[in-house]
Amino acid sequence: MNITSSAAWKAIEAHRKSFSPVHLRQLFASDPDRVATLSLSFDGILFDFSKQRLDSTTLALLVELTKEVGLAESTARMFGGEKINVSEDRSVLHVALRRSGAPFPSADFDVMAEVLPTRQRMAAFADRVRAGEALGFTGMPIRTVVNIGIGGSDLGPKMLAYALRSISHPALAVHYVSNLDSAQLAPLLQTLDPRTTLFLVASKTFTTQETMLNAQTARNWLVANLGDAAAVARHFAALTAKPERAVDFGIDEGSVFPLWDWVGGRFSLWSAVGLALMIAIGPQAYAELLAGAERMDEHFRSTPCERNLPVVMALIGIWNTNFLGATTNAVLPYNESLRYFPSFLQQLEMESNGKSVGIDGQPLAHASNPIVWGELGNNGQHAFFQLLHQGGRLVPCDFIAAVRSDYPLPGHQEALLANCFAQSAALAFGKTEDEARSELSGSMSAAKLAELLPHKVFAGNQPSSTLLLSRLDPQTLGALVALYEHKVFVQGAIWGLNSFDQWGVELGKAVANSILPAVSDAQLAKKLDASTQGLLAFTRQHI
Ligand code: F6P
Repeated sequence: MNITSSAAWKAIEAHRKSFSPVHLRQLFASDPDRVATLSLSFDGILFDFSKQRLDSTTLALLVELTKEVGLAESTARMFGGEKINVSEDRSVLHVALRRSGAPFPSADFDVMAEVLPTRQRMAAFADRVRAGEALGFTGMPIRTVVNIGIGGSDLGPKMLAYALRSISHPALAVHYVSNLDSAQLAPLLQTLDPRTTLFLVASKTFTTQETMLNAQTARNWLVANLGDAAAVARHFAALTAKPERAVDFGIDEGSVFPLWDWVGGRFSLWSAVGLALMIAIGPQAYAELLAGAERMDEHFRSTPCERNLPVVMALIGIWNTNFLGATTNAVLPYNESLRYFPSFLQQLEMESNGKSVGIDGQPLAHASNPIVWGELGNNGQHAFFQLLHQGGRLVPCDFIAAVRSDYPLPGHQEALLANCFAQSAALAFGKTEDEARSELSGSMSAAKLAELLPHKVFAGNQPSSTLLLSRLDPQTLGALVALYEHKVFVQGAIWGLNSFDQWGVELGKAVANSILPAVSDAQLAKKLDASTQGLLAFTRQHI
């Protein structure tokens, strides 16, 4: 189905023609109730989208798209365990991973019979490490945990571990290693005590080059330092859907925690991939994280589209991308603890919906995911915000802040929030020529004023949403992540693509494998393209 030829899509197009020239200043001036109409709240999260360039008519028209694509049926199929990841013939059941216990409907198998015991094993393991009862090869307690993984086996747990570091175990250090570049692992190893270090090899496939090489190097380091290959059993655990490969690597069967092919990598932080996080924050806080996500799942399943946070968020993205022409979306947390949230969202959104072929194999007739990027908002203000204010490009923004700080210092939180709210207001309303003129006049000559005036005008009309969390606790964070996950699902359904495969990343892996032997073998390099040959020749000279 080509959604662009649907009546719903055409009605939005027609609406856009009359509506899009209207400035946010006019929208706020003409509708005093705008904030009440265009905001939603759920479980300590306020979602204010009044500064988006839309009104309730726009939203009602966008909701029609969800009916056109049968969103309710797609949602039921996902929660029902159907194999909606058709190109890989897999179910998509990350929602089962945060289920508190009720049976989970699945066509083929009882997933909770696997999920709950694994969660219990993880909790028992985490408790032992936290209590100092997990002993290394020399009998000393484990005090440092290193998660080795990349992509979905790194970004989610690392993001949440940093977000929740205020409640992390004070005597345990947890590190995340992902990069092939030895500049990440080597300096870390120099600081570690092999007798008290536990490596968690997080890899769904247990074949990912980066992870396997880092894991092998860590294993060599451990064996060299402890003098016995038998030490591996005490100092390595695996989080994987391929337990047999982990055992071949030398990891004790009892230290292998499974995940399953129905968990996508970028949705896997709720699975055994979350073990390092669970060790850091404890099983109880981890359970609260899952509970927050589960509550968002229920909200998503049961709330009408107009009041459904993930659906509304998705529809705003569709409006900005497909009707206003945005090609990008900035994620701007005003909260140090959300430092890694933009990177996490980059994988979640762009690996899921960065596609131009539909689920039916046909080229899409419309744009799909915008380029997601971002940075801590307060830091960004003094770097790239200039372009947002005066660069003339349409850059929709997600501002994210928490009202309460986990690290209160007098005056900081008020100033931080004031900056967050000021930026979204300045981007929305800008500064007119008249306002700039009246500010400047009296302080300079008419000639100087005329010269300066164009530089002091801010077009405004830059759309943004603000997600204001009451605080950054595990439950709220769980809900926040699930909110974006379901946003991705809704957008994938509207764009008519498969959000759960990632064939696009395979080409780079295959090409890297073909180049690797040519780094040291000049004969093999001759088969490669001229640019790669040149790069390799320079490399061989200087390596
Ligand atoms: O290369 C992309 C990818 O497959 C991601 O989807 C995944 O999260 C990451 O690599 C890591 O994969 P694995 O967990 O199998 O090592």
